Amino acid sequence: MNLKDLYINYFISKEHKQIPSAPLIPENDNTVLFNTAGMQPLTPYLKGLPHPLGKRLVDYQKCIRTNDLDSVGDTTHHTFFEMLGNWSLGDYFKEESINMSFEFLTKVLNIPAERLAVSVFEGNELVGKDTESYELWKNLGISEKHICYLGVEDNWWPNMELLGPCGPDTEIFYWRSNEPVPAEADLTDDRWVEIWNNVFMQYNHTEEGFDELKQKNVDTGMGVERVTSILEGVNDNYLSSIFKDYIDIIVKYSGKPYDSEYAPSMRIIADHIRAVVMIAGENTGIKPSNTDQGYILRRLIRRIIRHESKLGIDTNSDMLKVLIDVVIEKFKHYYPELEKNRDTIQEIVELEKKKFSNTIGKGLKEFNKIIQRSPNIIDAESAFHLYDTFGFPIELTSELASEKGIKVDIDGFSKLFIIHQEKSRVGASGKFKSGLSGTGDIETRYHTATHLLNAALKVVLHDQNIHQRGSNITEERMRFDFNFDRKLTSEELNRVEELVNEWIKNDYTVTCEEMHKTDAIKSGAEAMFIERYPEMVTVYTIGDVSKEICTGPHVEHTSVLNHFKIVKEEASSAGVRRIKAILE
Ligand code: ALA
Repeated sequence: MNLKDLYINYFISKEHKQIPSAPLIPENDNTVLFNTAGMQPLTPYLKGLPHPLGKRLVDYQKCIRTNDLDSVGDTTHHTFFEMLGNWSLGDYFKEESINMSFEFLTKVLNIPAERLAVSVFEGNELVGKDTESYELWKNLGISEKHICYLGVEDNWWPNMELLGPCGPDTEIFYWRSNEPVPAEADLTDDRWVEIWNNVFMQYNHTEEGFDELKQKNVDTGMGVERVTSILEGVNDNYLSSIFKDYIDIIVKYSGKPYDSEYAPSMRIIADHIRAVVMIAGENTGIKPSNTDQGYILRRLIRRIIRHESKLGIDTNSDMLKVLIDVVIEKFKHYYPELEKNRDTIQEIVELEKKKFSNTIGKGLKEFNKIIQRSPNIIDAESAFHLYDTFGFPIELTSELASEKGIKVDIDGFSKLFIIHQEKSRVGASGKFKSGLSGTGDIETRYHTATHLLNAALKVVLHDQNIHQRGSNITEERMRFDFNFDRKLTSEELNRVEELVNEWIKNDYTVTCEEMHKTDAIKSGAEAMFIERYPEMVTVYTIGDVSKEICTGPHVEHTSVLNHFKIVKEEASSAGVRRIKAILE
C-alpha cells in the first residue's frame, strides 16, 4: 500500500473522517493563486465554523508553491506536491496528536524511533515554552538529546507575519543518511529532514494582533514526495517511485544520462509536467494566459519546452503527450477530474507547445546575439523584444541570463511592459482586455463595484484592515465577503451605499497598470499574500479612492455602474461578513 492510503486508513481507524482534496484554485478566495497547504481550505473551520463531517478530519491535498520555482531542479524541491494532513477542530490536542504521529511513523511505516528527532517551541510573549510536548516525546522514548527547543523562526506556523490561523508547532525529523545517527541532534544539519509538522493552532493573526481562537485545533502536514523517498531509501526525490517513471521517459527521449549535467533539466520537466497536468486538469478550466494562474501555467509549459531543447529533445516529439498520460494514470484514482479532463489537458499543452516551439529556437539565437553584444546585462529593450517577439516570459530570460552570470534590467522591462499594455488596450471599447475574456459587461460592472465596496467599507468602518475574503459575481448580483467581527448597523450600511453611489456619480476613471509585484506593494495597492502572485501583476486604480491588485476586467468610468444597492448583510463564517448587492 502506498503512503497516502496508509495515512488515510490509519487516521480513519482513529475516528477521523476523510475529506476530499479541495481544488488547487481556491474557491471564493482570490487572495491566493493556489492552495499551498492542506489547512488552507479548512480555514473557516479552524476559526470555529462547525465542519459537517465533525471534529476529526484527514485528507491528501493538492498543493502548488511557486515561491521557489527557481529551486526546482535540485533533488528536493517541487512545484506541485501533495500534503497529507489530519485535523482536530477543537477536539484532541497535543497528547493525542503526538501519540498518533509517533504510532503512525513507528508502527505503520516502521521507522525506527532512533532515527527520529523533534523540535518543540521554546516560548515567546504569546505562548509559554512547550514543556508538555517535550514530556510527551520523552515519554514515547525519544532521547532527550533528540528533542530540541527552538524559537518562532522554526516552531511557529506559518510565521509571525502572515495573517490567519497560526500557532506553535512540533516538527518531526528523520535522519536521512547512511552515517550512524548522531547521539545529539543538530537540526541545522540537512541530513535531518523534516517529515511532519504538527501545528497547535491556537491563534488567529489579524492586522490588530493575535486573537485566541474559539477552539484549540491541531493542523498537521506531511509531504508525500519527501516521505515516500525516505521510505524507499533514495536520496533524491526524483528517484522515488513517484518520479522515476517520468525520469526514465525523459532519459529515453533525450538519449542522455541522468547525471549531474542533465539531471536538473530532467527534474524540471518531471516536476513541471505534474504541475501543468494538475492546473490544466482542474474543473475550473485554467488556460495559459498572461495573468494569475494562467501565467504560471504558461511559464511552466514554456520552461518545460526550453529544458527539452536544452536536453536536445525534439520539441515536436510526443514526449509531453506520453508524460501527461503517465501523470493522469498515476493520479486518476485520487483525482478523478484528471481523467475527465484528459483531452483538455492534452490540447492545452499541445497548443501552447505549438505557439512556443515555433519561436523558441529563433528566440534562443536572438538571446545569444544579445549577450554577445552586451555580455554583462540584458537591457530592458532586449528583454522586451524576447518577450514580445519570441514569447519569452521575463523569468525565462532571467533564468537563461543567470546561467551565464548575466543580469537583466527587470525594472526597465516592467516599464516597457506597462507601455505595451496601454497600447494594446486601444480599441478595446467599454472594458479592459484581460485574462477573463468572455466576461460580460454586467459582470464587469459588478467587478468594479466590488472594488468600490471594499474601499467604502474601510472608510465607513474606519478600518484599513478590512480586506476581501471572497467574492462571487453573477449577472444578477454581487457577493462580497470581508473580515469584520460584527454585524453592520443599518446606518453603516446606508453610509456605505451612499459613499459607493457618490463615487459612481463622480465618474472616476479606472486605470490599469502592469507592474512588478514589489512596486505594486510599494504603491500601496491592496493585496494579500504577495509572495503568491506572479512577478508581474495588474493594478487597477479608481480615481483616488481605490487601488487593488486584480486581474480585471473593469469598466473604464464608474458612472456606467448607475446605482448601487445593498440587499443583504450577514455572517459568512467566524469573523467574516458577507454583503450581497445589486446594480440597478
Ligand atoms: N499547515 C502546516 C504546514 O503546512 C501543517 O506545514
